Amino acid sequence: MNEEQFVQVKHLKMIYDNGHEAIKDVSFNVKKGDLVCLLGPSGCGKTTILNMLAGLLTPTSGEILFDGKNVVKVQPKDREIGYVFQNYALYPHMTVLQNVMFPLTVGKNKISKEEAKKIAEKYMALTQITELKDQKPSNLSGGQQQRVAIARALVMEPKILLMDEPLSNLDARLRLKIREEIRTLVKEVGITTLFVTHDQEEALSIGDKIILFNNGVIQQDDEGQNFYLEPNNHFVANFVGNPVIDNFEVEVNDGLIKGSDFEIKVADLDQKRLKTELSAGKYILSVRPENIIPAETGEIKALITDVELIGRERILKFDYDGKQARSLVDLETPIKTGDQTCLKMRLDRIFLFTADGKRVY
Ligand SMILES: Nc1ncnc2c1ncn2[C@@H]1O[C@H](COP(=O)(O)OP(=O)(O)O)[C@@H](O)[C@H]1O
Ligand SMILES: [Mg+2]
Repeated sequence: MNEEQFVQVKHLKMIYDNGHEAIKDVSFNVKKGDLVCLLGPSGCGKTTILNMLAGLLTPTSGEILFDGKNVVKVQPKDREIGYVFQNYALYPHMTVLQNVMFPLTVGKNKISKEEAKKIAEKYMALTQITELKDQKPSNLSGGQQQRVAIARALVMEPKILLMDEPLSNLDARLRLKIREEIRTLVKEVGITTLFVTHDQEEALSIGDKIILFNNGVIQQDDEGQNFYLEPNNHFVANFVGNPVIDNFEVEVNDGLIKGSDFEIKVADLDQKRLKTELSAGKYILSVRPENIIPAETGEIKALITDVELIGRERILKFDYDGKQARSLVDLETPIKTGDQTCLKMRLDRIFLFTADGKRVY
């Protein structure tokens, strides 16, 4: 068995009947026991991928291998997959116990009621819903329904767990709590998990790795921190990070990077980070707000138009070239709305992208 490539997706493509190409040529691997987050904006193809993994949709082309075996022609029920749907899909007329037991009591491998009950009780204990066993779903909170759906997905002891935005119906505080619980649970069970979310913070906090999609194409497949430190392209730089990255239109010419009112010498860049020689032309210079901060001297002179407190830090907002930009500072920095200040960029932390989003620095 190849543990590094427990799940292999190769050149997967999905064109829906109406001609829409939802997944364009997607390849990735998932390591056994890992919790991998599929991240991306609404409509980028996350559910389509889960449905192909589960066998609910047949790919137009490409391969899906579980533990080295191509499963594209394998029936959903024979794929050894647990699926937690976005809307939970609990059976309303059944109790919690009956819901959790259900998969064990149908199909050709069904087991006796007593055995099924024993297994269901184990997973209800793991998901902390034992005391709800006689309740109907309509009496449960969103978080409780979520746990029932997870327990029901786990009773068949599948090899792979698929979860489609499992926290999107919960309030903010509960999301934080349950995402930690899900990570603890899947690690305890040791199950390989693909967790879909559109929330970058959620993905960063629980994923062993993240695969970021846009328009049916993988943008980056990497450990969380690299989405901040080494974004593959401009889409990634913009999608990941809170507050969002600052973008300045610049032009490179005669060894200078010129913004509408700043200049940086190309020679002052960290030459090791240049991906190619910087040819003359238009680029986007992007910098995370924590890497453009007030200093005695700096590239940009800014009038602070607003200061927003976000917990232990503050966001200084300023206008640049008709657009709002941000500097992230700690609470001690004595700058207030209306102040004029210099902002210095950390030149070893800025990024340069071509107009079509390719990273060059
Ligand atoms: N049955 C379908 N027929 C045609 N287009 C679809 C169908 N289902 C989804 N799509 C389209 O495919 C794209 C990806 O959808 P989906 O996988 O649901 O995205 P996500 O889960 O990332 O929000 C979207 O543009 C969506 O409108
Ligand atoms: Mg979806």
